Amino acid sequence: MLRTAIIGLGPIGNIHARHYQEHPNCELVGLCDIIPERADDAACRFDAPAYYDAAEMLRTVKPDICGVCTGGHEYGGDHYTPTIQALKAGCHVLGEKPVSNDIAEAEEMVRLARDQGLCYGINLNHRFTRLTRIARQWLNEGRLGHLLFINMAMWIKNPRETSLWFQVKALHPHTIDVMRFFCGDIAAVQCFVTRAPGRTIWSTAHFNFKFACGAVGGLTGSYDIERGHPMERCEVAGVDGRFVLDDMMHKLTWYPANNCETTVINNTPFGMIPEKVFDDTFRNRIHRFVEQVSDGAKPATIEAGGADALAAQRVLAAAITSVEENRVVEAPVPNDAI
Ligand SMILES: NC(=O)c1ccc[n+]([C@@H]2O[C@H](COP(=O)([O-])OP(=O)(O)OC[C@H]3O[C@@H](n4cnc5c(N)ncnc54)[C@H](O)[C@@H]3O)[C@@H](O)[C@H]2O)c1
Repeated sequence: MLRTAIIGLGPIGNIHARHYQEHPNCELVGLCDIIPERADDAACRFDAPAYYDAAEMLRTVKPDICGVCTGGHEYGGDHYTPTIQALKAGCHVLGEKPVSNDIAEAEEMVRLARDQGLCYGINLNHRFTRLTRIARQWLNEGRLGHLLFINMAMWIKNPRETSLWFQVKALHPHTIDVMRFFCGDIAAVQCFVTRAPGRTIWSTAHFNFKFACGAVGGLTGSYDIERGHPMERCEVAGVDGRFVLDDMMHKLTWYPANNCETTVINNTPFGMIPEKVFDDTFRNRIHRFVEQVSDGAKPATIEAGGADALAAQRVLAAAITSVEENRVVEAPVPNDAI
């Protein structure tokens, strides 16, 4: 049984707690939030002890796995301290995205996990869907042939105006991770930004990419569009065909290059509610981390690990430089250079 604790019990920490509680290999041994009511509510809900101080919890309950679900500035500013505390306490850590918007801090977190020989994963849950795995399998089998391009888009309504780069930093760890999952490292970035009337932050952005494998790509993202329609789309093309993933977890379509018979795989039975499908991505991601830790996986093999998340943050930092300096920014450092 893996002794599991969580730091940060906002809405997202509660989702993590539920999925750990459901896992037969996990036992929730501590739930910590610096806001006592949040820790107490979660403790009551999940029948586990509440703590208000992470260091005290780690010392007392000695977890095997620690979930870090804090938020903070740009929805990731609070992750650093509890992640370092948990790694120093010898825990495998599954943290929320973004790993950190401060690249030096993210490097330190990834380096510490590596030096301690601990598994460090990030909840880049958009790649943990059945359809995304099928599409990745097609790539592994060479079904697309020589890779040419990837087009990705993601849009939701988020009215928060907390910082100029909030949309780029909080939304796109997911999209960049999915693009890297399919096409590998990104070698050059160019970014353009705009905003809806009345907004002050860069709430809509478009990115152009060159991948190390030679493929090219585009990404459009926005915090300016109301929900109600699909919110995410990814198209990957090679010389032998292309696939389109609608909403990552809803529909996968294969368009072969040499005939007009398409294949459609739907993930959502008629009547299934979208929230349930999104919740599944958390369960898939969290349970995969538990499975890898249970199996004694080598830290470097953890799917959507800290180094992957760091690579995505480097791409986003390069995109911001591209806007600020109005230029293409070459080759963010490869993800093993920490
Ligand atoms: N993967 C996804 O699809 C997805 C979706 C939404 C949000 N998120 C991420 O989830 C994270 C949490 O989101 P949220 O909406 O629950 O945030 P939130 O701000 O509501 O909750 C975070 C909690 O962490 C607590 N906290 C901060 N520092 C702490 C510390 N040192 N010790 C103990 N508790 C501490 C805060 O008091 C707060 O209660 C964010 O990083 C966000 O980017 C991920």
